[in-house]
Amino acid sequence: MATGNGAVTRRGFGKWAAAGLGTVAVAGTAGFATFEALGHRDKRLRLKNASAPEVTGANSLGAHAAARGLLFGAAVDPELLDIEGIALGHTDDAYTQLFVEQTRILVAENAMKWFALRPAADRFDFSKADRMMGFALLTGKVVRGHNLCWHEGLPSWFTKTVNKDNARQILIDHIRTVAGRFRGRLQSWDVVNEAIWLEDGRPDGLRKWPWLEMIGPEYIELAFRTAAEADPQAKLTYNDYGIETEAPDEAAKREQVLALLKRLKANGVPIGALGVQSHLHAAGEQPGAGLREFLKEVAALGLEVYITEMDVVSARIDGGKAGRDQATAKVYGDYASLMLADPSVKMLLTWGLSSGHSWVNEPDQRMKRFPDIWSEGPLPFDDDDRPTEAFWALRGAFDGAPPRVRAAS
Ligand code: XIL
Repeated sequence: MATGNGAVTRRGFGKWAAAGLGTVAVAGTAGFATFEALGHRDKRLRLKNASAPEVTGANSLGAHAAARGLLFGAAVDPELLDIEGIALGHTDDAYTQLFVEQTRILVAENAMKWFALRPAADRFDFSKADRMMGFALLTGKVVRGHNLCWHEGLPSWFTKTVNKDNARQILIDHIRTVAGRFRGRLQSWDVVNEAIWLEDGRPDGLRKWPWLEMIGPEYIELAFRTAAEADPQAKLTYNDYGIETEAPDEAAKREQVLALLKRLKANGVPIGALGVQSHLHAAGEQPGAGLREFLKEVAALGLEVYITEMDVVSARIDGGKAGRDQATAKVYGDYASLMLADPSVKMLLTWGLSSGHSWVNEPDQRMKRFPDIWSEGPLPFDDDDRPTEAFWALRGAFDGAPPRVRAAS
């Protein structure tokens, strides 16, 4: 791997790269000028250094987690990965370097969602997902799948096409095709994502959305059973958010998630893990005893627990950038320590690795909740791919975690 400063343009990289490896080999050896020659219009990114020795190799997050039998990883946008450079044995791209050096497990931030895989009702497009699988293969990373069943991230044809008569079959076909394609190659799958939504007022806490309304509550069981047939090896996971802190609404949601997990287990549904998304806020209620108790109950059901999407929003924290960085780091340290103290928690993934590519500041996402405040440093690396305070806090939490048997991979 490259160790020095590097700069390769990355936005839109995948578009021309899709032209094929022949072109790529030329671009890989000739560097940036060739990108321009190929008509790649993006501007060169500023020089970055993702490879300082004090945070890489044995000093990386991945290595420190592994020393405790934990898997550390992050969500990635495969379109931004310099897979061609990796295939040729060298990349100067800082984003790619960061993933190579820090992670042991990857998850696609968007590339395995319905809208990414299903351009039309009768067509699948695996190009982005395959790109990530190829990168993982070349760099020796474990991969988890996200997700097979979610109320967001649906293609525009979905509501026009899916109805009570075909819903069941469409869900089955999707899961069979997608989970089948990656059969035996994924550590885990988020089979159902965010199915609990107390605001909808149902006694079972289930979210009212098309699958529920068209198939009934048994859509969850159906999804898990279909996934288990398509990929018997992957740990099948129920993934949700807003179940981390001591806030009363989060405590109530934990109860409903636990009740759902108990129902699934009682019905012999092949579920292997709970994913706790862990999108946290430095301001407001923090995780505590309620979460600790919850983890024990989940473990008693025989489930593993994964921290699947950690990041920390620092909006509403005073003290300027330094204050926000410190508050963020404290949440990373405290939360990871609390969670990793429980032996059922086998891995931790952050939702991205550096603030330059975090959904927290995507204009149409979290910023709509904090329109006035830019949330600084939600991840272990900053805009320039330098470690943030959160990096050190997280690494410290790994060091303090009790050793455990390594997660299945
Ligand atoms: C987010 C992505 O990060 C964004 O890029 C996208 O615009 C919307 O989805 N919970 C999940 C993830 O399970 O899939 C979401 O990812 C973040 C919240």
